[in-house]
Amino acid sequence: MSKTALITGVTGQDGSYLSEFLLAKGYEVHGIIRRSSVDFRERIAHLEGTPHFHLHYADMSDSMSLVKLVGKVQPDEIYNLAAQSHVQVSFDAPEFTADVDAVGVLRILEAVRTNHLEAKCRIYQASTSELYGKVEDVPQSETTPFHPYSPYAVAKLYGYWIIKEYREAYNMFCCSGILFNHESERRGETFVTRKITLAAARIAQGMQDCLYLGNLDSLRDWGYARDYVECMWLILQHETPEDFVIATGVQHSVREFATLAFHHAGIELRWEGKGIDEKGIVNNLTPALSEREGVKVGDVVVAVSPDFYRPTDVVNLLGDPTKAKRELGWNPQSTSFEQLVELMVKHDMQKVTREHFNLAEYLEKGIVK
Ligand code: NAP
Ligand code: GDD
Repeated sequence: MSKTALITGVTGQDGSYLSEFLLAKGYEVHGIIRRSSVDFRERIAHLEGTPHFHLHYADMSDSMSLVKLVGKVQPDEIYNLAAQSHVQVSFDAPEFTADVDAVGVLRILEAVRTNHLEAKCRIYQASTSELYGKVEDVPQSETTPFHPYSPYAVAKLYGYWIIKEYREAYNMFCCSGILFNHESERRGETFVTRKITLAAARIAQGMQDCLYLGNLDSLRDWGYARDYVECMWLILQHETPEDFVIATGVQHSVREFATLAFHHAGIELRWEGKGIDEKGIVNNLTPALSEREGVKVGDVVVAVSPDFYRPTDVVNLLGDPTKAKRELGWNPQSTSFEQLVELMVKHDMQKVTREHFNLAEYLEKGIVK
């Protein structure tokens, strides 16, 4: 008998990889989508219409929709990935963030209880390294104290504790994966890594002059999203419901990410200045780029803008994945930082080339002016 999974956040980076992973394991996969004015779901377009993949309209802020859907699907496993997931946005929309990222978790748990599925249905909650926030210890493990440092993190802390509470109060199999940052060619374009890889590709191809960033000193433990969704599944297959830190155990700064991304786009950077005055300047170009019109040695291609500073910023995340390695048999370093940056830049170099040709064709045909 194949298992049935319900994924909230199926259209997101992780939801799309998890869908592929579960379909390959023979699952019947159901996902929650929201109505939007543009109904193109880029990350899962290739799955829509395939026999074991089903989409349903519902919303994390609408209890009734969740109760009805859980009753209809009768899932063996729920992966609760839906969230307003952007930390900086949570400062501008804190109430919405709390509704979806905190109370949304409660709504999922209650939907399972209302349908009397506590004994059958296992629940995975997408918790986050942002819970460590203004960190009290480095590296961070399952026992490191939390100190959330944004409205997003405070909302996610509620999610973490309500999952723990329902596990103890109602004996439910529900767990948190405390995932550190994970990126990919499907990462949202306003998160720092994807913002950098897209800009490096555009600058190399003469489509953008300069990339503006915030805190270049911020340190993250960056892994590859495709590797991380396996862990979500492993956590729910574990004998007992437990929380796990999922991380690579390797840390880099935003500046290091940018240096490597530009390198893969054919641009060697040198850094000058400090704080708000720091600049990334072209030190060298590959022969192919130096022969083209566009970016030149000496150009400032990275600058700092205070617009991307946060009221409180989390600056030192480094995870200790020992428990996941030991108990789940998971390899935290199947994709290295260097491989991750390279695959993201390669993808975005091709994407920008395609956009460039489409634009040229549209201009020629008069579709855009
Ligand atoms: P993402 O790409 O931003 O995807 C978020 C998903 O949530 C999208 O499918 C979005 O739907 C959905 N969503 C948002 N509000 C909703 C609502 N009210 N009702 C229903 N669906 C809603 O995020 P991600 O990177 O895949 O991350 C997945 C989860 O892991 C999130 O909970 C995030 O907070 C958490 N997390 C992520 C990381 C990371 O580094 N990526 C690390 C730790 C934890 P639309 O497409 O309709 O907007
Ligand atoms: N987004 C962004 N844009 N961040 C920047 C920029 C910029 O221009 N310049 C510097 N940064 C810094 C941020 O201040 C932060 O310290 C770091 O880069 C990473 O920012 P994001 O990529 O936006 O990710 P995040 O760490 O805040 O949040 C992501 O990871 C969390 C797990 O730790 C999200 O995916 C969250 O949903 C997730 O929980």
